[in-house]
Order: sequence, then structure tokens, then C-alpha cells
Amino acid sequence: MPHARRTALVTGANRGIGLAIAQGLAARGDIRVLTAARRMRDAREAAEAVGGEPVALDLSNPVVAESTAGWIEATHGAIDILVNNAAVLVDGDGLGVTTEDFAGSLAVNTVAPFALIRALGPGMLARKWGRIVNVSSGWGAFAEGMQGPVAYAASKAALNAVTCASAHTLGPTVKVNAACPGWVRTRMGGPGAKRSPEQGADTPVWLATLPDDGPTGGFFRDRRPIAW
Ligand SMILES: NC(=O)c1ccc[n+]([C@@H]2O[C@H](COP(=O)([O-])OP(=O)(O)OC[C@H]3O[C@@H](n4cnc5c(N)ncnc54)[C@H](OP(=O)(O)O)[C@@H]3O)[C@@H](O)[C@H]2O)c1
Repeated sequence: MPHARRTALVTGANRGIGLAIAQGLAARGDIRVLTAARRMRDAREAAEAVGGEPVALDLSNPVVAESTAGWIEATHGAIDILVNNAAVLVDGDGLGVTTEDFAGSLAVNTVAPFALIRALGPGMLARKWGRIVNVSSGWGAFAEGMQGPVAYAASKAALNAVTCASAHTLGPTVKVNAACPGWVRTRMGGPGAKRSPEQGADTPVWLATLPDDGPTGGFFRDRRPIAW
């Protein structure tokens, strides 16, 4: 675990697993949490709930998100921990999803996380310490049969590829890992899901606070490696 007080940025921190991740990191007491949300009003509510600082960060346009992340770092100080949690799930198997929705899913779920890694990763590398967690899904795992809606599955499989590539580029002091939270009771997961948001947040929080001898370039569920 880090010695100095670290700063974490969690995307989609206003609800669901993202709020639980922000809560889990803030509860440690040694991490300052920036609660990022698409709307400033929601970011403020989350910040109040967890004792963090609000930032507005809309991921719909990844190019804008990249420059916004640079601005956030310039105004709030160096970011040591990035949790790419926000995502959209658009239904539609095979050809049942529109090309616009497919591209939109890729933008929020894959290209924006890449843009934030691009904005914040070099600073972590220069400071020789960083933790990046990409909240992925078993639905994006070839090993699990790519069972989810096609736009979501493709976006998470590509996020996994971004995880591997970024770990190669930034390692070993900046650890980049992907997490599957399991099936979680959120707006995305629905009320019938087995896990609470806190249970879903456990592995992402663990990866966000890995010790220096912790893993990088892996895919984890319940704190254990799973196949891509
Ligand atoms: N729930 C599950 O069972 C499950 C399973 C596997 C993986 N996951 C993954 O876990 C992560 C969190 O999911 P969740 O279940 O907590 O989902 P959720 O309750 O639907 O929350 C999604 C979050 O993403 C944010 N978001 C969506 N589009 C955005 C945009 N353009 N800009 C900024 N923020 C945006 C939402 O913000 P708004 O409130 O502004 O829309 C919200 O904060 C996701 O990466 C998801 O793929 C979830």
C-alpha cells in the first residue's frame, strides 16, 4: 500500500459500483477521492456521500474527456489512481444493435478509458507510482464465450486489450489491471443480481490499492485471475 496520501479518480462515481468503489477508497482514510460524474450535480452528491471532491467528466466524447482529465489534474493535483468504471450497456445481439449505438458503446466503454490512461498514465510513470483499474466484464471474455449484447461484449473485450497494452507500456511501477465485478444489483445489473454494489467494488478497490509487488496486466474476479 502507498505510503503517501494518494489521489484517486473514479469515473461514473455517482451510482452503482462506481459509488461503492469511491466509498471503499475513501473509507481507507489515506486516499483523496475525486468523484467523477457526467453531471456536476451528481458528482457533488457523490462527493458529499463519500467525503470526496466532485469533478464533471462526460465520457461521450473521448477526445474532450482526455483534455478534461488533463485540466482536472492541473486544478486538483496529481492523480495516482484511475478507476475506469463508467460504462453503458446497449441491448441487441448480432445485428440487432444500431451502428450508432455500437460506436457510442465503444466511445464510452473503451476509447474514453484509453483517453484517460493517455492523459494520466505518463504522470504516474514519471512519479514511478500508479494504479489503473479498468472495470470490465466476463461478457467481454472470449474464454467465457462472449455472451453479452454485441456492442457491450466488443467494448469490454477491447478494454481488456487496452489493459494488456497499457500494462506493457506503463509497467512495472504503474499497475494496470482489469476487473469483472460479477453480476451486481445496479441500474445496469438489475434488481435480480446476486451481489451488492459493495461486493462488486471489492476487487476493483483491491486492484486500486495493490502493493508494489502486486500483479499487473491481469484480469481478476473475486481477487483471483480469470482467463481473457
Ligand atoms: N452491474 C453488473 O452486473 C456488472 C457486471 C459486469 C460488469 N459491470 C461493469 O461495472 C461498471 C459499473 O456498472 P454499474 O452496474 O454500476 O452500472 P450503472 O449503475 O448503470 O452505472 C453506470 C455509470 O456509468 C456512468 N456513465 C455512463 N455513460 C457515461 C458518460 N457518457 N459519461 C460519464 N459517465 C457515464 C453513469 O453515469 P450517469 O448516471 O450519468 O448515466 C453511471 O455513473 C461498468 O463498467 C459495467 O460494465 C457491471
